[in-house]
Amino acid sequence: MKTSVLSSIGQRTTEPPISWLMHAALSRPNLISLAAGFTDNPSLPVAGTRALLNRILRSPGTGQPALQYGSTAGEPALRQLTAQHLRKLDVVATPSSQTGRRGVAATIYSPERLIITSGSQQLLYITAEALCNEGDIVLVEDPTYFVYLGILLSRGLRARSIRLERDGLELAHLEKVLQTLKRSGDLRRVKMLYLVSYFQNPTGATTSFGKKRGILQLLKQFERAAGHPIYLLEDAAYRELRFSGEDVPSALAIPGAAERVIYAGTFTKPFATGARVGYGVLPEPLFAAVKHIKGNHDFGTANLLQQLFARALASGAYRKQVRRLRQRYAHKARVMRLALEKHFPAAVEWGEPAGGLYFWARLPKGMSTGVKSEIFRAALKHDVLYVPGEICYADDPTRSKPNHEMRLSFGNASEADIREGIKRLGAVLNQLVK
Ligand SMILES: Cc1ncc(COP(=O)(O)O)c(C=O)c1O
Repeated sequence: MKTSVLSSIGQRTTEPPISWLMHAALSRPNLISLAAGFTDNPSLPVAGTRALLNRILRSPGTGQPALQYGSTAGEPALRQLTAQHLRKLDVVATPSSQTGRRGVAATIYSPERLIITSGSQQLLYITAEALCNEGDIVLVEDPTYFVYLGILLSRGLRARSIRLERDGLELAHLEKVLQTLKRSGDLRRVKMLYLVSYFQNPTGATTSFGKKRGILQLLKQFERAAGHPIYLLEDAAYRELRFSGEDVPSALAIPGAAERVIYAGTFTKPFATGARVGYGVLPEPLFAAVKHIKGNHDFGTANLLQQLFARALASGAYRKQVRRLRQRYAHKARVMRLALEKHFPAAVEWGEPAGGLYFWARLPKGMSTGVKSEIFRAALKHDVLYVPGEICYADDPTRSKPNHEMRLSFGNASEADIREGIKRLGAVLNQLVK
């Protein structure tokens, strides 16, 4: 009998769909990709980054520490500045009526609870590694970030999906799923709920503060039956890319959140995706476990990049870049909206995002957009690519996987390509959507 040389993780982990989509985008010069989650090229801060790096490398005194290994948890100055930055975001976003007289608890934002990671993606992976054994369950939004589903699949974890509404998870459905899991004896396998809380990838939905409170309350309610804490992992990757409306406080601002909320943040989307630095705020005993596992992965995020972000935050260059990006994406989102209004058939529904990088379009049920569908093939033939909605759904025995949606990104394509890409896609849909 032939046995595989690969471990069970090695065997389970197949090429993620994102690699295929990115490869398709890069290998066909005429293809307009509205699929890849790349960000806007012309606004990448080349000159600003050069100036910051020049300052770091100006003398051996500042340059040598940046070119040396650092510590696993991250550069102390960056941890401090990041904790302050995050606290400020929450203080500004939180009306005192939401937090009580004492306001946002300062201790939650202590640099001691904050770890710097190689992109927030690393935090998502290591958190799953630190918390979950094979067969454990993670609750996810329906649909969710498809790369996260890849992590769960690879690590042999099960996803249970919770229905998503415009302002976040449907609380009644969350309660129902938790009850069902309790009845079946599976609740003890539930370790956390993963939430992409701002301008969600893929739907653009933002979770309201009220819903975050409701989720945390429900998770706490079921902990006794689970026999252990159930964590809320808040992935705020797109938080700072808001271009209209007011920021929503993170779940860290909920009184009593300190022991249960894991916050995953990133500097890549709001500054430069090539400079992969993210961060996590974690309660004990998770913080120590994540730090120790990160020690095995890379014993610290690239020090030069950490120094870059410490300088960017301290000098105001980061804030300036975020302001520029917001204007830029507001404009690109408008370009995409106008193109959708002009070229998409009325039977296709889409909501307008207030931030982030994506539109989510719903075709009439039964009109498949999947990789093997007529629509996907026709779109490719016309040199335009989107993310088929079905890859963003976990397998769920309680429903058949929706396959009539598409994620459209205005992040990387130029304005001209957004117009042309939507026009081409519109022509395909006008032909095939009944
Ligand atoms: C929802 C979400 N979370 C996390 C990430 C990872 O971002 P990074 O590792 O660049 O911080 C992404 C990237 O696309 C994302 O869409």
